[in-house]
Amino acid sequence: MLIFRHIEHMRSQLQPSRKLGQRISLVPTMGNLHEGHISLIKQAKAQSDIVVCSIFVNSLQFMLIEEWDKYPRTFEADCRKLREVGCDYLFAPGDDEMYPNGLATQSRVVCPSMTDILCGRSRPGHFEGVTTVVSKLFNIIQPDESVFGLKDFQQISVIRRMVEDMCLPIKVHGGPICRESDGLAMSSRNAFIKSNERPKVKVLKESLFEVGNCLSKGDKDFCGLEQQASERIEQLGFKVDYISVRNSLTLEEAAIDDQDLIVLGAMYTKSARLIDNCILRLDNTNGIGR
Ligand code: PAJ
Repeated sequence: MLIFRHIEHMRSQLQPSRKLGQRISLVPTMGNLHEGHISLIKQAKAQSDIVVCSIFVNSLQFMLIEEWDKYPRTFEADCRKLREVGCDYLFAPGDDEMYPNGLATQSRVVCPSMTDILCGRSRPGHFEGVTTVVSKLFNIIQPDESVFGLKDFQQISVIRRMVEDMCLPIKVHGGPICRESDGLAMSSRNAFIKSNERPKVKVLKESLFEVGNCLSKGDKDFCGLEQQASERIEQLGFKVDYISVRNSLTLEEAAIDDQDLIVLGAMYTKSARLIDNCILRLDNTNGIGR
């Protein structure tokens, strides 16, 4: 696997492949790679000729500089994992390469839709940071395909909308959520969970799936179900940010006759903010289908 720190070098490397008509996939990450990330690389490999992974801890999407500072950086281990899975190129620019003019005057890509709800409500500006860096990465790599995890469902929804709005010729694929054996969605933030809280955090996934189960049986009391899930989480001492049943295509609050649904949730442990979701599609015949 070749590693590139500079935009120009990365672009030159990709030029011959592009001329040959090879399909290029991009998997953007912030590093500290786990099985969830690696599954996206595998998915990208299956659908293209060349896979580029990017690692860049994007300060623009963090609310607090301390959060950015303490983000786990495990470059050597990440490279090993990427080599093992057969990733072709790693693009790992420094801050000066991505934001040479500083952050204050950096042009931004703003997606007004879907960004001030759910995670965007408690993290104002977060999605602007994401759309800005992802559009820069798209411009640098110019991939045909890209793969994002469905764990960050709002993120992939916003990126899909940005791609559509800006007429970018890039297919955005979603990769399924990879979980630990107890169901906890894998995340770089899991390293911050205190050991006494670790056995209990599976409650987030369990509560969301319990709501999903009730919905698939025909329960339409969205508010009641959200309330019950919140209470179950709070009983274990965690603070709920939100539990919300939404239309998975628009992220608007679910309506009675919606068939494409998603139950999204975010909660705080003492030292980490965790998110998860349960996607489901109700079908007409028996109301069940996932
Ligand atoms: P990061 O948190 O490193 O995640 C990189 C990609 O891995 C995202 O698409 C995310 O949804 C996916 N991912 C994370 N955990 C996963 C899991 N358990 N199963 C499947 N996929 C998972 O998301 C970001 O970085 C950044 O916001 C980024 C898009 C790179 C922009 O800076």
